[in-house]
Amino acid sequence: MIAHRPGVDLFDGLPDTRPRTEILAEDAVVLRGLLNNEDKAVMQALDKLLAAAPLRHMFTQGGHRMSVAMSNCGRVGWVTDRSGYRYDPIDPETDRPWPALPDAFHDIARRAAAQAGFDNFAPDACLINVYEPGARMSLHQDKNEHDFAAPIVSVSLGLPVVFLFGGMQRNDRPRRCRLEHGDIAVWGGQSRLAYHGVSPLADGHHPITGRRRINLTFRKAL
Ligand code: SIN
Ligand code: FE2
Repeated sequence: MIAHRPGVDLFDGLPDTRPRTEILAEDAVVLRGLLNNEDKAVMQALDKLLAAAPLRHMFTQGGHRMSVAMSNCGRVGWVTDRSGYRYDPIDPETDRPWPALPDAFHDIARRAAAQAGFDNFAPDACLINVYEPGARMSLHQDKNEHDFAAPIVSVSLGLPVVFLFGGMQRNDRPRRCRLEHGDIAVWGGQSRLAYHGVSPLADGHHPITGRRRINLTFRKAL
């Protein structure tokens, strides 16, 4: 079992009495507050990563500027531009390799995956998503990875958001689930290709991230 403190304080000062594990669908769970002991260390590591590979708003193939600011760390990074979506070992903004995935990030992702029933998760890519009020992510599948045997591990920091978790078809009605600071969602197996997205971020202030929500999405891409 993981160091996982029930009763950790949420940022509104009330104890976190939510169930520790919430099932979203088959092979898909939210692990509540799993990150809470490591949030400050993760934020410090992020400062360094984002100094080396700055946040940017990418463009979709159709020419839309994404409202979420993004960067990556790991052996490859997820990018989108006029030519489409891909994993690239080189950051097109800096022309350098993405910064390495910190060991601490690797450990967090591996632990979360194991807790969700996926042993030996070995992520090689971490997409860093930064949401400011109004930013959103429309329903999509994570399907640019090489094989779908490994799960997706998605860590939330900062302002709460409504996560949408749908089915295998884009028009399956998604389940709505609030993700808060320290929550980690994991989906794989039967749910690996589930459509998912994020509703527009409501304004607010979080003591750790300020007026932002940060999401780290770990994948085995190669
Ligand atoms: C993503 O699907 O890449 C992001 C999900 C999230 O921000 O929670
Ligand atoms: Fe995604």
